[in-house]
Amino acid sequence: MLPALAVALAAAAAASAADGGFGPQHAHSPNVHHTNTAYWVIFAFTSAIFLVVEGALVAFLWKYRARGRARDAEGQQVHGHTNLELIWTVIPVVILAVIGTVVFIELPNISGAPASAANKLEITVEGHQFYWLFEYPNGARSINTLHVPVGQDVELRVLSADVVHSWWIPQLEGKIQAIPGRTNHTWFRADRAGTYYGQCAELCGLYHEAMKATVVATSQADYQSYISSQATQDLGKGEFQGVCATCHGMNGQGGYGPALATNTLLTQPKGLDAIIRNGFGKMPPVANTWTDAQVKALAQYAKSHVFKGASTSGG
Ligand code: CUA
Repeated sequence: MLPALAVALAAAAAASAADGGFGPQHAHSPNVHHTNTAYWVIFAFTSAIFLVVEGALVAFLWKYRARGRARDAEGQQVHGHTNLELIWTVIPVVILAVIGTVVFIELPNISGAPASAANKLEITVEGHQFYWLFEYPNGARSINTLHVPVGQDVELRVLSADVVHSWWIPQLEGKIQAIPGRTNHTWFRADRAGTYYGQCAELCGLYHEAMKATVVATSQADYQSYISSQATQDLGKGEFQGVCATCHGMNGQGGYGPALATNTLLTQPKGLDAIIRNGFGKMPPVANTWTDAQVKALAQYAKSHVFKGASTSGG
C-alpha cells in the first residue's frame, strides 16, 4: 500500500505543478474569475472531506487491527447514537448549502454579459465538422482564429451547421454547446492582448480533435484593420488549412481524404463550389453555410497555392 501511496502522491504533485494542473487555467476574462472562484470553493470542501475520510480510514485500520484476536471475535457495537447521526446528517447539509449558495451567487456573472455592455461586439461562432467559422459585424469571416479587441465585451452567438459541438476557450469563458437549430450565447472580455487557445469539447466525429480554436486579442485599431482588410486576404488560406487540409493534407497531398493537389477540380470554381457546398460520397458538405465570397477565396487559393498541375496518371 505504501508504494502505491507514494506513486499517487508523486503523480498528484506532478499534475499540480504542470500548467493548470488540478486547477483551472488562469482567468483572462471576468466570467472566468467567477468560474474559478466556484471551482476553488468546491475544491476546498472536497479536499477537506477527502482528508477527513481517508485519515479516519487509516486511523481505524491501525487502531482496530487484528492483534491476534480470533477472526470472528466481534468488537464493541455502537447502536442508536443520536448525536453521531445528527452530526453526519447536519454537516453535509450545511456543506451543500454553502456550495449551492456560492454557485448561485457566481452563476449570473458567468453566463450573462454585464448589463453595461453598451458597446458590446457581437460575433457569430458556427461549429462545423471540423472547424469553427466566425462572422464579424461587418460581414467579414474567418476560420478557426477569432480576432477581438482587448477590453471590449464580446458576445458570441454560438450555432452549429451539422452536429453538436462545444465552444470552449478556458481562459476566456466556459463551455457552451453549439447545437443545430438553436442559438446559444456566451461572452468574454479579454483583459490583455494575447493569444488564447481552445478546443471543441464535444465528441463530434472523426476529426473532433482537429477543432482547435484560437482567439487573438489585439488593440482596437488592429482589430478594425483585421476585419476591414486582413480577414479577406487571409480567408482562402484559412479555409484551405482549416477546412480542407484536415482530411486532404496541408499541401493537398492526401490523408484521410484523397490527394487533391493534382485534381483539376481545384481550377474549376463551379465544380469546386458544388462539391464543397453539397458534399460528395464520404466528403461532407463542409461549405454549406458559406458566402460566395468565401467560396471564391478558397477557389483562388486552391488554384494558385495548392494545385500542382493535372495528374498524368489520370488519378
Ligand atoms: Cu466539434 Cu468536437
